[in-house]
Amino acid sequence: MNILVTGAAGYIGSHTCVELLNNGYDVISLDNYSNSSPKSLERVEEITSKSIKKYECDLRDVEGIEKIFEENKIDAVIHFAGLKAVGESCKIPFTYYENNVSGTVNLCQVMAKMGCKKLVFSSSATVYGGNDIPYVETFKTGVEISSPYGRTKFMIEEILKDAAVSDNEWKISLLRYFNPIGAHPSGKIGEDPRGIPNNLMPYISQVAIGKLKELSVFGDDYETKDGTCVRDYIHVCDLARGHLLALERLQKDECEGVEMYNLGAGKGYSVLEVISAFEKASGKTVNRKFAPRREGDLPEFYADAKKAKEYLGFETELGIDKMCEDTWRWQQNNPKGYE
Ligand code: NAD
Ligand code: WQD
Repeated sequence: MNILVTGAAGYIGSHTCVELLNNGYDVISLDNYSNSSPKSLERVEEITSKSIKKYECDLRDVEGIEKIFEENKIDAVIHFAGLKAVGESCKIPFTYYENNVSGTVNLCQVMAKMGCKKLVFSSSATVYGGNDIPYVETFKTGVEISSPYGRTKFMIEEILKDAAVSDNEWKISLLRYFNPIGAHPSGKIGEDPRGIPNNLMPYISQVAIGKLKELSVFGDDYETKDGTCVRDYIHVCDLARGHLLALERLQKDECEGVEMYNLGAGKGYSVLEVISAFEKASGKTVNRKFAPRREGDLPEFYADAKKAKEYLGFETELGIDKMCEDTWRWQQNNPKGYE
């Protein structure tokens, strides 16, 4: 079975490719490498001893997408490609809407034309916006989203719902990720942010290895267990497995039009808890100081993970210690990422 994976070379895409190849799927990758390296796909091939058919293609290039569908019989698409930096999206919103929203419309138009209507989409917990926890799939979305990035995810979800209303052959799974961290246990693939990381885990691991001086913990006076923000961290390998389960549901025709699922552990860890788990896993001290709150941060959110368990049979298996151990192995083996 041929699965087109857009954004395959990226952090979550590469881990999902491993899972797909290990489970007998053939992978065709589409990526423009704007935020990744083709080396990640070579590492995926090394880990699995299987090969990937690779296309360097931008989702803004309709002819490029068409060529891939003309040259391959695609059974389903897992769609990761998009820009994801929250802060950057506030500075260059048009670029985000063009890449993420127009790119997805282009992809879906080609899929419809070619008769491939099974899609798994990378959405985000950010679509919930508000602060009523835990987040449940039935909550209203799109209300208090704090960035253009988040709004692209909300808009795409709405567009995909419209697609399913217009044509009942569409089977779409919207996967709302919480906070993916960790790396493949081989230490060969992992998160490779460009420049100074915005997210907590890559920042911590770069401090631990001595690349960055110290972590700023944004806020110590939130109404949480220890005053720092609480998030629902999910191991990227668990997350990758969630995609396979969603895909299987589409293949079995169990999916009714558009379905949405939270992919999270269903529990939260504070920033200080993550730091101490990382120190335990690495044996290093993570230098840190308290800093003012970061604009737009919510004090606490985590998933209600029941729906994914009931319909996809998905539950996380890898805890915070394993997330830190695997991140540290990746960081130590690849101090300069894929460079
Ligand atoms: P990533 O940046 O590592 O991967 C995205 C990939 O898409 C990259 O390889 C990039 O080169 C490619 N890409 C971007 N724009 C493209 C375009 N126009 N055409 C072709 N390729 C393009 O990000 P990731 O962390 O792997 O995230 C994957 C998806 O999951 C994204 O859609 C992201 O918004 C979503 N998501 C990520 C997180 C997270 O914390 N990592 C959380 C929720 C949702
Ligand atoms: C986690 C916690 C920070 C960095 C983001 C996106 C979200 C989703 C996942 C895509 C927060 C604190 C962080 C640092 C810190 N992505 N922190 N010092 O903000 O929960 O979610 O990534 O959809 O949309 O917003 O993740 O890793 O940035 O932060 O104290 O240097 O760590 O304040 O509490 P976040 P994060």
